[in-house]
Amino acid sequence: MSQNHSANTANDAGKPAAVHPIVPRMHLQFQLDGDIPKYWMDGDAFKTRFWDALSIIFPPGEKYFMNCVREYRDRISDPKLLQDIKDFNLQEAQHSMVHRQDNDRLRRQGVDVDSLTKYVDQMLNTEYRKNYSAGYNLAITSALEHFTSIIAHSLFDKRDVMKGADPRVRAMYSWHAIEEVEHKGVAYDVMEDYAKVGYFKRVWALVHSTYMFPRTIFVVQRRLMIHDGFSFTQRMGLMAKGLWWMFKPGGLLQPMLKHYWTYYKPGYHPWQEVDQPGYDQWLAAFNASGDPVKASEQTRTALAL
Ligand SMILES: [Fe+2]
Ligand SMILES: [Fe+2]
Repeated sequence: MSQNHSANTANDAGKPAAVHPIVPRMHLQFQLDGDIPKYWMDGDAFKTRFWDALSIIFPPGEKYFMNCVREYRDRISDPKLLQDIKDFNLQEAQHSMVHRQDNDRLRRQGVDVDSLTKYVDQMLNTEYRKNYSAGYNLAITSALEHFTSIIAHSLFDKRDVMKGADPRVRAMYSWHAIEEVEHKGVAYDVMEDYAKVGYFKRVWALVHSTYMFPRTIFVVQRRLMIHDGFSFTQRMGLMAKGLWWMFKPGGLLQPMLKHYWTYYKPGYHPWQEVDQPGYDQWLAAFNASGDPVKASEQTRTALAL
């Protein structure tokens, strides 16, 4: 397990170091096989299928992240970074396992999870890895890891975008977001120090990911809503409302925006960002009970959400 660090520390090479230890947490129980309503988010098809699409994307996506980092593993001798990579892999593997459990819930609704997973898997793990260099794939990984780590800002923001969610599914996203914060700089460190990706390739990969990631969510979400039997006109209506939910002032995306842009700064490093609402509260609650659903709910109480 990695060592803890205090905020704004730097390692021997003068690079920023992690604020939080990377702690892989195993055997977590979210009760995802329980009586979770089909539209578990506000009773709303668009919002629910948005998060369900993410759940489908994560297992092939996280496999891609691990593959891209693994390309460089043999060149790394720094024991701290090797331990970070090990913990990063353990966390991502657990995330994929729990999202697969969540996807079994969708399977029980008759969703063809396998064909959707295959679509994402083929795009990232076959086409991207075949068509792009190892360095660029790692830059895409770092960019996508930037997205997954800034989701925590939305989940634990006072605007409470997860208010209408089922507590069990909400707990899965809370835990996932917290661990993304813990390992947010690992792929980035490998990209900078071993793949030697420079500024322009790094930010271009974010521009690329800013198009590819939402597009992939949209493709999967659309297929889920077609499966649900919504006509084109109904889907347009649900999408108009859903896009407002995302983009309105105080909507899903607003708490992430300012953090999104920091990646474009020359000299940026994910560990530089130490302000992480919800992290200490979640960790204290989780360490007290070991129950991720309780931890998520107690975090919400502690943050007065
Ligand atoms: Fe993850
Ligand atoms: Fe991650």
